[in-house]
Amino acid sequence: MKILVTGGAGYIGSHACVSLSQGGHEVIVLDNFCNSYPEALCATSQITGHPVVLVEGDVRDTKLLKQLFDTYTIDAVLHFAGLKAVGESVSKPLKYFDSNVGGMIALLGAMEGAGVHTLVFSSSATVYGSPQKLPLTEAHPFLSDTSPYGHSKQIIERMLADLAVANPIWRIACLRYFNPVGAHETGLIGEKPLGVPNNLMPYLADVAIGRRKRLAVFGGDYPTHDGTGIRDYIHVMDLVEGHIAALYYLQKQMGLVTVNLGVGRGLSVLELIRTFEKTINKCVPYDIVDRRVGDVAECWADVTKSANLFGWKAKRSVEQMCRDTWRWVRKSNKI
Ligand code: NAD
Ligand code: WQD
Repeated sequence: MKILVTGGAGYIGSHACVSLSQGGHEVIVLDNFCNSYPEALCATSQITGHPVVLVEGDVRDTKLLKQLFDTYTIDAVLHFAGLKAVGESVSKPLKYFDSNVGGMIALLGAMEGAGVHTLVFSSSATVYGSPQKLPLTEAHPFLSDTSPYGHSKQIIERMLADLAVANPIWRIACLRYFNPVGAHETGLIGEKPLGVPNNLMPYLADVAIGRRKRLAVFGGDYPTHDGTGIRDYIHVMDLVEGHIAALYYLQKQMGLVTVNLGVGRGLSVLELIRTFEKTINKCVPYDIVDRRVGDVAECWADVTKSANLFGWKAKRSVEQMCRDTWRWVRKSNKI
């Protein structure tokens, strides 16, 4: 298939490019590099031995989108492009609605114009808000106690559901990611946050490599077995393989499907730190500090639906998530 990957130079998108190319698909990337670097695409080509076609630009640029769909006969779209910094979305909500919701509207319009109706959309477990019941199933309601970033994903999901009702020709998978971590096993691509990392794994890796002094563990008094927050960490390569399973599912099935992508197991902050330390054979200094505003105590996925519909399950261990992150961080810091 010929696949358009929006945001293909980013963390998850670059890994998706590798999996797609290795699966024999042709990849066209649309990215404006607002949170990534062209080097990531060179690295994906280096891994796969296949070039990636790059269209540099913004997913909200309707003229560019029309040109792109006129030039390439696209079979399906994986839509990763968007903004994802939860904290920034609180202070700049319009920026997030413009980029995420505006980007989705522009892309859907262009797809409709070109007669392309197969879409895999990057949603997030953040659409659930504070979990009322664990594990989180896809039937859990959308709660409003999420961030503007989370609201942007909720709005897009509702838009996609309405679209699928209005025109049954659409084939759409909304994939709700839990906590993607890790990197490609070659260490050539991985997560490279601009500035101070917001997420645990990149911060932990920065401290381990000596770029930052100590990790702040946000909250030691949660009602969990060791007092720290619990999340469902999933290896990024498992995650992108889930997208490919979704694409094959959509070849057989019309309409919209909404599926969690997680491991189905919760891990505490301290458990992740311990596993990381053991894997790299090095201590990571940390302090337990106040809770971070907006964080929930626990969040992990019910993964029954992805297994039943896609025949897909995450298979990589927490040790592998740590090992691959470490290899990437060392390589990218030339250590
Ligand atoms: P990322 O920031 O690394 O990648 C996003 C890519 O999209 C970047 O290359 C960026 O330059 C590009 N981009 C952003 N806005 C664009 C625009 N308007 N036009 C063209 N390109 C644009 O993020 P990621 O971690 O790879 O996330 C990919 C998707 O998955 C996002 O939609 C994000 O919301 C979603 N998601 C991520 C996580 C996570 O923890 N990483 C969790 C759940 C959902
Ligand atoms: C994980 C755990 C923190 C940093 C976020 C988004 C979510 C999704 C994935 C996009 C929590 C703790 C963290 C640190 C810490 N992204 N922590 N010290 O908050 O579960 O999810 O990324 O859709 O929408 O909200 O991930 O990695 O930030 O935090 O103690 O320096 O690590 O409190 O318990 P989170 P995270």
